[in-house]
Amino acid sequence: MNKLYFIETWGCQMNEEDSEKLSGMLINLGYISSKKREDADIIIFNTCCVRENAELKVYGNLGELKALKRKKPDLKIAVCGCMMQQSSMAQKLIKRYPFVDIIFGTHNAYKFPEYLNRCIQEEKSIIEIFHKEEKIVEGIPVDRLSSVKAFVTIMYGCNNFCTYCIVPFVRGRERSRTPKNIINEINDLASKGYKEITLLGQNVNSYGKDLSEKVSFASLLETIAQIDGILRIRFMTSHPKDLTDDLIDVISRNSKIVNQIHLPVQSGSTNILKKMNRGYTREQYLNLIHKIKDKIPDVAITTDIIIGFPGETEEDVLDTISLCIEVKFDSAFTFIYSKREGTVAYNYHDDVSDEIKHYRFNRLIKVLDEISLSNNEKCLNGEFDILVEGPSKNDESRLMGRTEGGKLVNFSGTEDMIGKLVKVKITDVRAHSLIGEIL
Ligand code: 5AD
Ligand code: SF4
Repeated sequence: MNKLYFIETWGCQMNEEDSEKLSGMLINLGYISSKKREDADIIIFNTCCVRENAELKVYGNLGELKALKRKKPDLKIAVCGCMMQQSSMAQKLIKRYPFVDIIFGTHNAYKFPEYLNRCIQEEKSIIEIFHKEEKIVEGIPVDRLSSVKAFVTIMYGCNNFCTYCIVPFVRGRERSRTPKNIINEINDLASKGYKEITLLGQNVNSYGKDLSEKVSFASLLETIAQIDGILRIRFMTSHPKDLTDDLIDVISRNSKIVNQIHLPVQSGSTNILKKMNRGYTREQYLNLIHKIKDKIPDVAITTDIIIGFPGETEEDVLDTISLCIEVKFDSAFTFIYSKREGTVAYNYHDDVSDEIKHYRFNRLIKVLDEISLSNNEKCLNGEFDILVEGPSKNDESRLMGRTEGGKLVNFSGTEDMIGKLVKVKITDVRAHSLIGEIL
């Protein structure tokens, strides 16, 4: 009988994509995915450490596994991902949770089958973390979650060192995949019937700077747009300081490249942006937004915002709120600043209480919700091309899909529509989704 595996993933799309590869490798070894953690013969925790909360979840979940391991001594438990790349984290973890069998990091995930094999044969724990990034390993099997849309990582790592961010420490420096490898993967996805590709990287618009061949993110996008069968190309995340006119032109020229840009602003205050080492001012960000909106009038702009950065004043928060009102973000991921050891901001003096941070955070969310609802209200009675992704999450008898700008739409339809572009008229709106009917 086939053995079962279960993977729990925390964090960003990059982690999701890494988990799809772990899944692909396990399927190659003859394992089958388990719906329930308790039934699995191997459990993998793919961890995130971008905020303290993400780490606390991992500890809580590992604690829960102790009893399961006692009941099933042959169960193998593996922990991997960004959290494991932090100095002495692996040692700390194995001391606290000695029942963990395998620990590895972000740079050596491709070696997981070897670790599993050794762990089973030698009946001992395996801990291996590479502290330096290696060359990109191509050709790892991928078991994708969706049959309509696929993530394709085009570059790994980040060189930006925003002062709050742990990512450059745990994902290493920027490394781009070659255009050839990326195009081959997307051609293969197109031939398998995938319709939407999301190009992933911590800073996709830095793509190619480390390659010997002359290629930019804009030129890569243009090449991908020529691949038959792919209907939509998304990409994330873009850094405002690297967003070129060329890229805006390429997006506006190609109908397959969606008119949506995820452009984290982080703060609307130049003072805070400087302390964050973001490389742009409030005015430069706003000018960039105006330029994008001029060239791509129906563009959807989404963002990330951090509240409670050390030393943040009431005036800084008002700057962030007024910037949100001016840009009218289509959606925003909002976070309360979390102190990360090893980053520059870790040593910044912070005299703002948690209570004030939460108060500011809630005010920001309220404004963003109002903006989002008002953006959505403009869609009422409008007709949109929706790429149908599958059954709706809340009501499986209905379908869900997205507009080009990334807005989620729920509507009634038939299963044969999955993977197709359909025309939908919007009949009702919520703050974070739309409701429609097929035309
Ligand atoms: N605290 C809070 N939010 C953070 N992010 C990154 N580091 C931190 C931190 N230390 C947020 C940023 C980034 C998103 C992925 O996570 O907004 O864009
Ligand atoms: Fe972190 Fe800044 Fe790099 Fe984004 S650009 S991953 S926020 S260091």
